[in-house]
Amino acid sequence: MKYKLIRGFHDILPGQIERWHFIENSAIEVFRSYGFNELRLPILELTDIYCTGIGDTTDIVAKEMYTFDDRDGSSLSLRPEGTAGVVRSFIENSFYKKSPISKFYYMGPMFRHERPQKGRYRGFNQIGCEYFGSANAGADAEIILMLWYFFQKIGFSDSVKIEINSIGDEESRNNFKSALIKYLTPLQEGLCEQCKIKLGTNPLRILDCKNEGCKDIISDAPKITDYLSESSDTHFKMLIKILEELSVPFILNDKIVRGLDYYTETVFEFTTDKLGSQNAVAAGGRYNNLVEKMGGPSTPATGFALGLERIILLHEQISDEEFMFPTDIFIAWIGDNTFIPAMKIATELRSRGKSVYIEHDSKSIKSQLKRANKFGAGYTVIVGEEELKNGKITVRNMKESSEQSIDIGDTEDLYNHFT
Ligand code: HAM
Repeated sequence: MKYKLIRGFHDILPGQIERWHFIENSAIEVFRSYGFNELRLPILELTDIYCTGIGDTTDIVAKEMYTFDDRDGSSLSLRPEGTAGVVRSFIENSFYKKSPISKFYYMGPMFRHERPQKGRYRGFNQIGCEYFGSANAGADAEIILMLWYFFQKIGFSDSVKIEINSIGDEESRNNFKSALIKYLTPLQEGLCEQCKIKLGTNPLRILDCKNEGCKDIISDAPKITDYLSESSDTHFKMLIKILEELSVPFILNDKIVRGLDYYTETVFEFTTDKLGSQNAVAAGGRYNNLVEKMGGPSTPATGFALGLERIILLHEQISDEEFMFPTDIFIAWIGDNTFIPAMKIATELRSRGKSVYIEHDSKSIKSQLKRANKFGAGYTVIVGEEELKNGKITVRNMKESSEQSIDIGDTEDLYNHFT
């Protein structure tokens, strides 16, 4: 029997992981510089957290969750996203009592039983940020700015577009929903089967349907931005003003409504035209009612998550740079008696922060030097039997093909060769 990956899941292999680390580390560095701290949460939560948090009628909750009964009968789900769990933790740990503002980032695998295709998986990875405590448009502007800065940092300035919209407060959405239903009802025969259902359950989601027939109908639909309440309109205009003043390039897209029910006011997506239909590399928005809905005190919040697989796919397209962890030093040993001293040298150099590669089967010096080149080692330390008897080892500079014999007892001298 041959075991295989579950459909829609993937391994990240050595040779690929280096690019992942580059992206992850760049994101973490940027998010930390904006005052976000890591929150590490379990990937399994009570199913109800997602039903309440994301919404029963959303595709994610209604069709895509990996849900099962625990041994005590309680229903658990693998997390399909991070926000609902972060809110659960925010309330459970009373972060709101500790500080008026809390800023978290989190990363890790998410699970959605979607139809797999390029850029869309059943097991995928996100890095997300959640910002609690400010209702101000400045908070939305800052996270969009931060995300833009991150994408610039990894070389995506020309590959990614920022699309923003406002879906307003409850009053705005209720007014808009009525207008949308009024517009769509006489045209419903032309809608796809999914959208016919959504007309009764979640009409806003019809706006981002990818079906061509639905897109045609939607193109003349009322625009949500024409239905914003006064305060939502002011909020959205302020966001636009700040982004313009900060020279963040964005476009307005009144069709962005997002697939999760918790959003209020600002919504946004960072999209690319280089990945086919799975074009959002990051997405998010404001969710002012979720903390209260999940049992906490009324707390405005805003956030986003970026999709790591899609970012990696895009990064592979724009940068063929090899992402390998550099090996500083390769230790080659010749003759059985040299292995232990060679290990000691490796340990000493590693304890001083060097990345050192040593192999454990006896091989010729020629094949060991070949291996050293393969790992991109700058230096090879050669530990030979005869030399060792005289307390010496050889340090070979791989680039210059030059060698120098040094005293094995003098670790300082040895270390200095590599600094
Ligand atoms: P989302 O739009 O569902 O939002 O996901 C965010 C990003 O995760 C997407 O833009 C995409 O890059 C990636 N993603 C989603 N589903 C998949 C999939 N099946 N395969 C590969 N990548 C995927 C959220 O998850 C919200 N929690 C974001 C948020 C945080 N809003 C406020 N705070």
